[in-house]
Amino acid sequence: MPAQIPESLQKKVADRLAFYHDLGIGPFYGDRHSEAVFQQEQSVEPAAGMSASTPIPHEESPLPKTLLRKSDFQKAAAAAQPKIAPLPLPAAPGPSLFDAADKIVDDTLLRIREDIGECTRCKLHKHRHTIVFGDGNPKAELVFVGEGPGADEDAQGLPFVGRAGKLLTQMIEAMGLQRKDVYICNVVKCRPPENRTPEDDEISTCSPFLLRQLEVIAPKVIVCLGAVAAKTLLKTNRGVSQFRGQWLDYRGSKLIATYHPAYLLRNPSAKSEVWKDLQKVMAALGLRAKGKSA
Ligand code: URA
Repeated sequence: MPAQIPESLQKKVADRLAFYHDLGIGPFYGDRHSEAVFQQEQSVEPAAGMSASTPIPHEESPLPKTLLRKSDFQKAAAAAQPKIAPLPLPAAPGPSLFDAADKIVDDTLLRIREDIGECTRCKLHKHRHTIVFGDGNPKAELVFVGEGPGADEDAQGLPFVGRAGKLLTQMIEAMGLQRKDVYICNVVKCRPPENRTPEDDEISTCSPFLLRQLEVIAPKVIVCLGAVAAKTLLKTNRGVSQFRGQWLDYRGSKLIATYHPAYLLRNPSAKSEVWKDLQKVMAALGLRAKGKSA
């Protein structure tokens, strides 16, 4: 009888694989390799000297051996009999699941920043001046996630330093904290032109870096500032007003969504709602409001 895997471990593994999926780490190299074998089977003539009984020379595969799962390759090779010799395959782009997983086990903010590099992965790079990675305490219990940099952030390379940022700073201080106590970052790291909302392809390209930041920091509480952050982390299309102020779970952190400070600049009457949300955050973190003693 096969050994029973405890349910808690199954859940952990499923959860981890879901996280890799969200990071865009999907298929195994071996699987892609197999597909390539099958495609070639339909379109390639046997190589000179190769008969139906000639074994496929998988040991000479041009793919680095470390990237192949032998069992997958053998399955593909067996299914392809009686066959032709596979052509040299171009290396599949991106890391294998195993390589990526190893890297993420030892992830750090520095490594994530290095991985972003001078990013050109999406069209936002064309207009940006500076990548705005994030700022604050790498061990923060509280992380604020915004949408994307604006003009001031793009110029300074720091999140939330413009008008909306000043309001966020006041909110943080009203909670009895300073900016250096918390971590502040965005869903996209480059300024969208004219401060437009980031588009789906930009969010899906950039958000894996945010997910890795959150995984490394592992805060007690995440505050999503506005719909883009909330929808990205919660994978929902529901309007933020439907769940604003409610405690939700994000990979073991408590998550609460509230209005974006830029919205508050346009609608100051909503500030009291946001303050209520922040008071919930303070209670969860055992904080007392500025100026209030025990
Ligand atoms: N708005 C955001 O969402 N993020 C910033 O960094 C600045 C403004």
